[in-house]
Amino acid sequence: MVMHMSIRVAVSGASGYVGGEVLRVFSAHPDVEFGALTAHSSAGDALGAHQPHLRQLADRTIVDTTPENLAGHDVVVLALPHGASAEIAAQLPPETLVIDCGADHRLQSAEAWAEYYGGDHAGTWPYGMPELITPTGHQRDVLPGTTRIAVPGCNVTAVTLGLQPGVAAGVVDPTDVVAVLANGYSGAGKKLAVPYLASEALGSAQPYAVGGSHRHIPEIIQNLTSAGAADVRLSFTPTLVPMSRGILATVTAPLATGVNVEAVRAAWEDAYADEPFVHLLPEGQWPTTAATLGANTCLVQVAVDGKAGRVVVVSAIDNLVKGTAGAALQSMNVALGLPETTGLTTIGVAP
Ligand SMILES: NC(=O)c1ccc[n+]([C@@H]2O[C@H](COP(=O)([O-])OP(=O)(O)OC[C@H]3O[C@@H](n4cnc5c(N)ncnc54)[C@H](OP(=O)(O)O)[C@@H]3O)[C@@H](O)[C@H]2O)c1
Repeated sequence: MVMHMSIRVAVSGASGYVGGEVLRVFSAHPDVEFGALTAHSSAGDALGAHQPHLRQLADRTIVDTTPENLAGHDVVVLALPHGASAEIAAQLPPETLVIDCGADHRLQSAEAWAEYYGGDHAGTWPYGMPELITPTGHQRDVLPGTTRIAVPGCNVTAVTLGLQPGVAAGVVDPTDVVAVLANGYSGAGKKLAVPYLASEALGSAQPYAVGGSHRHIPEIIQNLTSAGAADVRLSFTPTLVPMSRGILATVTAPLATGVNVEAVRAAWEDAYADEPFVHLLPEGQWPTTAATLGANTCLVQVAVDGKAGRVVVVSAIDNLVKGTAGAALQSMNVALGLPETTGLTTIGVAP
C-alpha cells in the first residue's frame, strides 16, 4: 500500500488565471488537499462562477484574503497582484510554506525593484526555478526546507531556460542579448482593458512595454548573472498574439570568440540532459507553444547563424504551467523533500 502525506493548501487569488491554474495543476498532486480559496471582489461567490472548468471545486465558496482565513494550512499559494502578496505574506507565520506567484519577492536588488515596480522592496525570497544554474550548482540545491518561495515571472522562465546553458558554458556573449517574445493573452491576467478586447486581439499582433521598460528585464538579468554572466545587456520585446496561453521566446546573442557549432549544441545538451521538464529538441525540430499547453515543460532548440555571428535559441512554455503554477508545484515538492516531479505532467494538449 502506498502511504501519502496530507498537504493542506490554501490558494489566494483563486478567481484569477493563475489561481485557477494553481488549483488545476495542484489537483493532480496525490498529497494535496485544498483548504481556503480566497480572493478579493469575488469573495462570497461560488468558485464555479469564476473557474467553471474546475468541476470538483465548483461548489466551494471564495472567502476574503485575510491572515485568519489563511491560517492553519501547510502551504499558502499567493496568486495576487504585486504589492497585495507582500502585504498578506508579512502576516503569515514563518513555519507556513508561502509560495508567491507574484513579483514581490523575486528581485535581489531594491534599486531594481524601485526602478521597475516602484515603492518599497518587500525583500528577497528563495527563487522558485529549480533548474536555474547558480555559481555552486542549481537553484534546487537551496530550496529544501525553505518556507518562502518566489515563483519566477513567465517571460523570465522562457528566456532564462532558453539562454542560460550558453551563458554558463561561455559560448555566447551576454552583453548583447536580444529577446523577442510571442505571448498569449492570459499573461495579462483577467483584467478588462481595451487592448485585451477580442476586437483588438483577434487577427492582430501587438507589442507592449517596448524600449526596455518591461518589469521582467531585471529578473532575467539577475538569472543570467546567476548562470555566470559578468555583464548582461538585454533588449526585451514581448508581443501579444491571438492565443490564450503560451510564450514563444526567440533569444539571440553573439557567438563567443573561437567557439564552434559543436560546442554550442554540447552546452545545451549537457545542461538539460537530466532535467525532467526542460527538453532540448532533436536537431532541426523547433519548439511550438502548442506542444507545451497544459504541461510543465519548456521546449528548447538552439542554432548558430554563422553569417550573423549569433546563437539563436527558441524556447516555448505554457505561461500558466511552467510559467507559474507548475513551477510553484515543482518548487513546493523540492521544499518539502518530495520527488520534484510529483503530480506534474510533461504531456501537453494538442493540436
Ligand atoms: N497570468 C500569467 O501568465 C502569470 C504568470 C506568472 C505570474 N503571474 C503573476 O500572478 C499574479 C496573478 O496573476 P493573474 O494573471 O492570475 O491575475 P488575475 O487573473 O487578474 O487575478 C488576480 C487575482 O487576485 C485577486 N486580487 C486582486 N486584488 C487583490 C487584493 N487587494 N487582495 C486580495 N486579492 C486580490 C483577484 O480577486 P478578485 O477577482 O476576487 O478581485 C484575483 O483572484 C500576478 O502577480 C501576476 O503577475 C501571472
